[in-house]
Amino acid sequence: MIKGDTRVHSLYGSPVAHSLSPVIFNLTFEKLSLNRAYMPFEVGKDNLKNAVEAARTLGFDGFNVTMPHKTTILEMLDRLDEEAEKIRSVNTVARTKSGLVGYNTDGEGAVRALRSYGFEPINRRIVMLGAGGAARSLVHRFSRENNSVRILNRTLEKARELADNTTGPGKISYGELTKNGLENCLHDTDLLVNATPIRTSTLAHQLKIPVNTLKDTDWVFDLAYDKPAEPIPARLDTIDPLEMLVHQAALSYEIWLGEPAPFALMRSSLVAYLGKDWK
Ligand SMILES: NC(=O)c1ccc[n+]([C@@H]2O[C@H](COP(=O)([O-])OP(=O)(O)OC[C@H]3O[C@@H](n4cnc5c(N)ncnc54)[C@H](OP(=O)(O)O)[C@@H]3O)[C@@H](O)[C@H]2O)c1
Repeated sequence: MIKGDTRVHSLYGSPVAHSLSPVIFNLTFEKLSLNRAYMPFEVGKDNLKNAVEAARTLGFDGFNVTMPHKTTILEMLDRLDEEAEKIRSVNTVARTKSGLVGYNTDGEGAVRALRSYGFEPINRRIVMLGAGGAARSLVHRFSRENNSVRILNRTLEKARELADNTTGPGKISYGELTKNGLENCLHDTDLLVNATPIRTSTLAHQLKIPVNTLKDTDWVFDLAYDKPAEPIPARLDTIDPLEMLVHQAALSYEIWLGEPAPFALMRSSLVAYLGKDWK
């Protein structure tokens, strides 16, 4: 129950109506009898600054940002942690005595999700579709583990900028997200990560790539979960985006509450809400 002294967390993004983060956090807070609530707010590009100021004024106890704010929020915060500073992307903001501090839990959340499926992202060949906020954190994380990553993005300049600014021992290359660009690299790929809002099967249709071509890679990892995916070839292994969602939420929980997250409870809360497990 929300009371006079309930600590409030929030999510800023556009769109947010599909987000399952409020489900994960509110069910977990309730089950642990924590006097906390998590509220989603539809915040467009022009309103992010006001929303961040509102979080300060109203004393929110930390918040998440999602598409399209992960990079634009940087200049509105007081400090960035080392990882967020390096990748220039934030998805979690903590309120501290010294102001609002930005973190990014996407890269580590993705790696934990991959490992839970038995995929170890070390010395692998990875194709990354997209060069936005989520792609940035994953590419940096993958590069650190000596993976070679080819970034393909609709806007070539953003792919170039991400490739140029990624540090770490991994080999990074980039290109435009086109039919040829994707088809030409799939056969050399262990993992295809799709960090665009369009599911891979839909993207393949849009690019006029036969969906069977996706079998040239071993694993496909869509990050978007808001729309049902069209079927992809049965022999292909897939990582479910909901696994990453729970892992990155658990990492946010740890930042906000300063204690280990109840990962199993967070995951089972979402499974119970959906009425099915995704694994
Ligand atoms: N499962 C999870 O836990 C999790 C975590 C983080 C993010 N996500 C999901 O990942 C997706 C990306 O999030 P984000 O924060 O990185 O967003 P973002 O910063 O806005 O970046 C979006 C990226 O997708 C590309 N894109 C957008 N529309 C496209 C289209 N129609 N065709 C091809 N490319 C397109 C953009 O290309 P341009 O550069 O050309 O605009 C950009 O590279 C969202 O769906 C988000 O919900 C899921």
